[in-house]
Amino acid sequence: MTDPYGRDITYLRVSVTDRCDFRCTYCMSEHMTFLPKKDLLTLEELDRLCTAFVEKGVRKLRLTGGEPLVRKNIMHLIQQLGRHLRSGALEELTLTTNGSQLSRYADELFAHGVRRINVSIDTLDPDKFRQITRWGDLSRVLTGLEAARAAGLKVKINAVALKGFNDEEIPEMMRWAHGQGMDMTVIETMPMGEIDEDRTDQYMPLSLLRAQLEEHFTLHDTPYKTGGPARYVQVEETGGKLGFITPMTHNFCETCNRVRLTCTGTLYMCLGQEDAADLREPLRASEGNEALSNAIDEAIGRKPKGHDFIIDRRTRRPSVSRHMSVTGG
Ligand code: GTP
Ligand code: 5AD
Ligand code: SF4
Repeated sequence: MTDPYGRDITYLRVSVTDRCDFRCTYCMSEHMTFLPKKDLLTLEELDRLCTAFVEKGVRKLRLTGGEPLVRKNIMHLIQQLGRHLRSGALEELTLTTNGSQLSRYADELFAHGVRRINVSIDTLDPDKFRQITRWGDLSRVLTGLEAARAAGLKVKINAVALKGFNDEEIPEMMRWAHGQGMDMTVIETMPMGEIDEDRTDQYMPLSLLRAQLEEHFTLHDTPYKTGGPARYVQVEETGGKLGFITPMTHNFCETCNRVRLTCTGTLYMCLGQEDAADLREPLRASEGNEALSNAIDEAIGRKPKGHDFIIDRRTRRPSVSRHMSVTGG
């Protein structure tokens, strides 16, 4: 699948649920209205959709949410999707998770073919962790992380950089992650959906963070890639890699390789745009696969050039009104 700008689409991100057991303040408001359960595609339907994408050239599949591991029977979907790894059609089946359910699922994930996961942890201070997630228990996440590593999963830590919250802690977090053989990625906060805080207060350009890190560490740019938007440096003193995801200050849209599917069957062609296509109807249409394949082609043919994250100066509202959890980050 090639889009109008010549970009090959090989990465599908699937938000299997918009629900989450945390309410990170930069992601959600405290009181969220989630989708009614009856509107969700079944796991079989999600499997059919993912399979259609794999048949059309997707090589990397990432389940996200919300929190993907709170979707009921999610292991069944992961087990089913594992067949595309065994056939060689899919290179990677992976997840981005908040880690809260990992103790329960780590072994099964590995058994179904998952080899690498990204776990979101924005602070290693238990009180601050509770504050940012509104009620999350850090020790539970850390236990989950251990279970994942013991099961053989490679873990990368994701942290959203938030001014005045964790910016000063990031060097210490990086030392911790690298000390345990985990790479880490820092992310600029993107304005999406209504949250309760004023984002302009929290936003932190990563060029600033990089300058702070360079006071204590030697960072070497590397061509290392994971198929996502991060640009990585090798940190001489720790021996680990640090990725920078900079949607706000350094656009990576030119090399975008991904599209996003929601749990209701809507395909979003870009995280930071409203362009979307309904795949539920063609999925359920009696003519089956051909209608779906045509709908996917039509959607890819409209993938926008890049994202537009804007906050209206007057209303302070973001240009993208849906929450990150709907499209899965
Ligand atoms: P790797 O496979 O490890 O490279 O992961 P990834 O970076 O592709 O996925 P992850 O779910 O860990 O995403 C990390 C952050 O990158 C999240 O905040 C995503 O929202 C953001 N991100 C991923 N793809 C895009 C994109 O196409 N556009 C924008 N603006 N942000 C993205
Ligand atoms: N901006 C940047 N990253 C975000 N995430 C969630 N909301 C935002 C936002 N507004 C991150 C999560 C997780 C990943 C999927 O996206 O922390 O690591
Ligand atoms: Fe849940 Fe992730 Fe959003 Fe936090 S950032 S509320 S863990 S979906």
